[in-house]
Amino acid sequence: MMRVDGWRLGDPVFTADRIATRVGELAAAISADYAGDELTVISILKGSYIFLADLTRALSIPVRVDFLGLSSYVGAESSGEFEWNARMTTSIRDRQVLLIEDIADTGRTLRHVIDHLAADEPLSIRVCAFLDKPMRRVVDIPIDYVGFEIPDHFVVGYGLDYEGWFRQLPHIATLERA
Ligand code: IMP
Ligand code: MG
Repeated sequence: MMRVDGWRLGDPVFTADRIATRVGELAAAISADYAGDELTVISILKGSYIFLADLTRALSIPVRVDFLGLSSYVGAESSGEFEWNARMTTSIRDRQVLLIEDIADTGRTLRHVIDHLAADEPLSIRVCAFLDKPMRRVVDIPIDYVGFEIPDHFVVGYGLDYEGWFRQLPHIATLERA
């Protein structure tokens, strides 16, 4: 049982097998929607790194990958204040862009990123979020591809962290007080 800083893992929410199946479905849908085209995939660090790796390897269209890093999260509450810690190196002007996010919570992160990228005049910007907590939405954002919707409960694993911990888990689990 993994325990860190007074927290322990709760029940599994999505197993590695279930995740693999769902990521395959998302990749098939994205590949079909962009068939005959190409895609610039932008991963929002750090939480989306595992999802990105699995999803891009299952895409059948030509893809380039770039990264954006920003964080607002202190502990388990979103502050709405952002700090960039990694910048893209690829031009997205006149490109089809797909943003990859680990989880859409209040929507503030995605809103901030979409507004920032729109200034570079891409052909299109779509969003793919591995998890979505629609109940928590504060800022309206379009999400074009969603892995799973979940209720308002903090989860970790498959790239999602608590203070940097638990990203390594191959499944998604809740976090409980130890
Ligand atoms: P938003 O800006 O409120 O939508 O927050 C999005 C970010 O909050 C995500 O990229 C995650 O880093 C973090 N986050 C939100 N909910 C969870 C969760 O349940 N587990 C881990 N991280 C979360
Ligand atoms: Mg995070």
